[in-house]
Amino acid sequence: MCGIVGYIGPQDATPIILNGLKRLEYRGYDSAGIAVLENNHIEVRRDAGKLHRLQTIVEEQPLHGPLGIGHTRWATHGEPNARNAHPHMGSTGDVVLVHNGIVENYLVLRDELEAEGVVFNSDTDTEVIVHLVERYMSQDESIEDAARKALRHIEGHHGIVLFSASHNDRIVAARIGNAGGVVIGFGEDEMFVASDLPAILEHTRDVVFLESGQMAVVTRSELKLTDLEGSLIDYQTETVSWDPVAAEKGEYRHFMQKEIYEQVRSLTDTIAGRVDFENGEIHLDTLNLDKSLANRIEKIYAIACGTAGYAAMVGKVLIERIARMPVEFDIASEFRYRDPLVNENSVVLAISQSGETADTLAAMAEGKARGATLWAIINMIGSQAMRIADGYISMQTGPEIGVASTKAYTAPLIDLYMLAVLLADLRGTINPDERMALVSELRHVPGWAAACLERDAEVEKVAHAIKDMTHCLYLGRGIHTATAYEGALKLKEISYIHAEGYPAGEMKHGPIALVDKDMPVIAIATRDPWYEKMISQIEQTKARGGKVIAVATEGDKLIPALADHVLWVPEMPWMLSPAITVIPLQILAYHIATLRGLDVDQPRNLAKSVTVE
Ligand code: AGP
Repeated sequence: MCGIVGYIGPQDATPIILNGLKRLEYRGYDSAGIAVLENNHIEVRRDAGKLHRLQTIVEEQPLHGPLGIGHTRWATHGEPNARNAHPHMGSTGDVVLVHNGIVENYLVLRDELEAEGVVFNSDTDTEVIVHLVERYMSQDESIEDAARKALRHIEGHHGIVLFSASHNDRIVAARIGNAGGVVIGFGEDEMFVASDLPAILEHTRDVVFLESGQMAVVTRSELKLTDLEGSLIDYQTETVSWDPVAAEKGEYRHFMQKEIYEQVRSLTDTIAGRVDFENGEIHLDTLNLDKSLANRIEKIYAIACGTAGYAAMVGKVLIERIARMPVEFDIASEFRYRDPLVNENSVVLAISQSGETADTLAAMAEGKARGATLWAIINMIGSQAMRIADGYISMQTGPEIGVASTKAYTAPLIDLYMLAVLLADLRGTINPDERMALVSELRHVPGWAAACLERDAEVEKVAHAIKDMTHCLYLGRGIHTATAYEGALKLKEISYIHAEGYPAGEMKHGPIALVDKDMPVIAIATRDPWYEKMISQIEQTKARGGKVIAVATEGDKLIPALADHVLWVPEMPWMLSPAITVIPLQILAYHIATLRGLDVDQPRNLAKSVTVE
């Protein structure tokens, strides 16, 4: 989604803002712009396209000054062009603003403002905000009071940052709902504002995250935090431990490749500090789960979107199998339409890398409204999902920049396994020996991931063989139905090949009609309770002339004779295998997309964090 960077201090704001926006490129966008106060006059540069286009414009028409804001926009209202790119000014030239979110009532407001004689310069919903701010500033309101009044008129979820030439000692920022975050960074006699941590981490790690309904008035030396009525709010700065370099590609061609390879580290990190291998115990302290809650819970509703949704599907299998607790999986964007039977003895468990996905946050709000306990498995510390949850588990993978999620899929699968074991232990559905056995297997997970990465070259050969296909099927059974869905999503979102994940047992009920020599089938046929069924699935596919790429367990003698290609994974307990078996599918999708010359890290039409519903 859109990215925001703001600066106020003794340095030139222009390079700080442009570099900060570059760190947010991964969020996906289609236009960019910057506004800087130069000699007490607001200069704006903006255009459609990527940041290098904006950089060229800035080189041709430089702008410098101690105060500025910048924006990368993912178009929702109005085409991605210079006219609609942010920042937006009003009629006086005194106020400039950038915005994440959607003004849901902008048409009514636009009519109202036009009736007052306002002339609009864009087709965006955002522009109504800056005109409303100007309306109230003309009534001698300060910029922050004018902004508060303006925000009371707009509906929807918003992150806004603005400043004015006539109040040029401050930046005003506000957050309403879940349209992405707003974070304030504290420097030495300078302050930073951004929609996401990576934009400011090279300057400061001391930050304050705005919560929904909060406004920040930021001068070079201080932050004044209030609610939208203007009442002061106390705050504590947080120190973020992330290393800014970690968000760089290093020696990899793409962030996605780096993050696939980081999975040995990220799986280690998601386990670290949570497992007592000596006593076979799991500790998830941030979840605030105790024995009484564990025994009061009647059902868990696992909700998420996209890849995170497939992780939730795996979580259902694990928690029901290990903790014997009922779990329902819902796609987050559907959850609130089914009048879910959620009550005070329910848990709504959200899984979200960004912690800012609007559909997931809406589902959490639905659960809370019905009395549920909210849990969140998130990666972005300080995200809205983490803040509204009653307890959370951090994926601890470090920043995931590639739009296609990889390490932020495998880490929560291990977190869900640990949660299942902890719940089982607190509910007494496993004995200490069973618990010890389940826990001790966790020590092998990073090594299993490393074994898959060592086979990258073999997978790349298979990618060469099938890179020109136009469609394909991914088949899995049991816990690997989710693996099939995730493998298909990885391929389709970065290679644009039509790939479908299917429960293998469903093939005979229709989809097998698709199988012919031009329809490759990727079958997950590892040594697990569903192995025999998958073997017969492979035979049925071959009998119809289909090409089979099988994911198989090292040492399998039968599958190489049946399949056209084999992607090998180590021998593993089936309950831990989804976090590993997906890795060759990640690598396969990555190589096919790069062989097709596509933008792996920023696929067309996609954004890293979907903060609109
Ligand atoms: C997965 O590769 C996609 N980027 C997408 O499906 C993503 O998983 C989904 O939008 C959910 O995002 P979240 O985990 O940040 O909530």
